[in-house]
Amino acid sequence: MTDPAGMRRAYIRGELSESAVSADWLSQFRVWFDAAVADDAVSEPNAMQLATVDRAGHPSVRTVLLKGFDNSGLVFYSNHDSAKGLDLEAAPYAAVVFAWLPQERQVRFSGPVTLVSREETATYFASRPRGSQLGAWASPQSSVVSSRLELEEAVQVVRARFGDDDPVPPPPNWGGYRIAPEAVEFWQGRADRLHDRIRYRRNASGWVIERLAP
Ligand SMILES: Cc1cc2nc3c(=O)[nH]c(=O)nc-3n(C[C@H](O)[C@H](O)[C@H](O)COP(=O)(O)O)c2cc1C
Repeated sequence: MTDPAGMRRAYIRGELSESAVSADWLSQFRVWFDAAVADDAVSEPNAMQLATVDRAGHPSVRTVLLKGFDNSGLVFYSNHDSAKGLDLEAAPYAAVVFAWLPQERQVRFSGPVTLVSREETATYFASRPRGSQLGAWASPQSSVVSSRLELEEAVQVVRARFGDDDPVPPPPNWGGYRIAPEAVEFWQGRADRLHDRIRYRRNASGWVIERLAP
């Protein structure tokens, strides 16, 4: 068995400084996101771990896919009746992390969450493969199901309903969420664990850029 206590790697691939980062988080994120996309060693560069809390303050974390970002925030799609959907209804605040480990980088976001408009959801949903569209209708995400067969039968029912050619609209309980960042932290691994951490933090007058101790 491998003892994780002995696992250790030096981080040497880059550096980040207050003077070199972009003036705004969005430009900086674009640079790092494009670098992650261009690196074959980074699998699913738009995958991010999303943390939410429930009514009792108990956290959950899972992976979702980033499907859009701009000045207003990060967009992902999910089922509103899922565990995360219920969490976000009760506590509309989330944190995400992108771990681009081959690049020795992570980026963290946190902020309030709102639903994207139904129009935006419909536009994105229409771009998905038909199989994914039917799956969204058929899957009661996060509910206990008796078997895989139950899910496959649910897909058949949905397929019969929409036929082979009818456009499939987004299910009413499925849609997009937008995280409007209040803080965005860029982390670059460095030698001797003296990593670079540069955080953009929103305050009353705009954004401040700060270095955090590793
Ligand atoms: C690579 C990857 C991408 C995923 N993307 C999504 C996604 O975009 N939306 C989503 O609802 N679930 C996605 N999932 C599944 C979630 O991680 C999770 O299993 C599901 O959303 C149920 O989570 P919940 O019960 O906490 O609500 C993805 C999982 C993986 C591993």
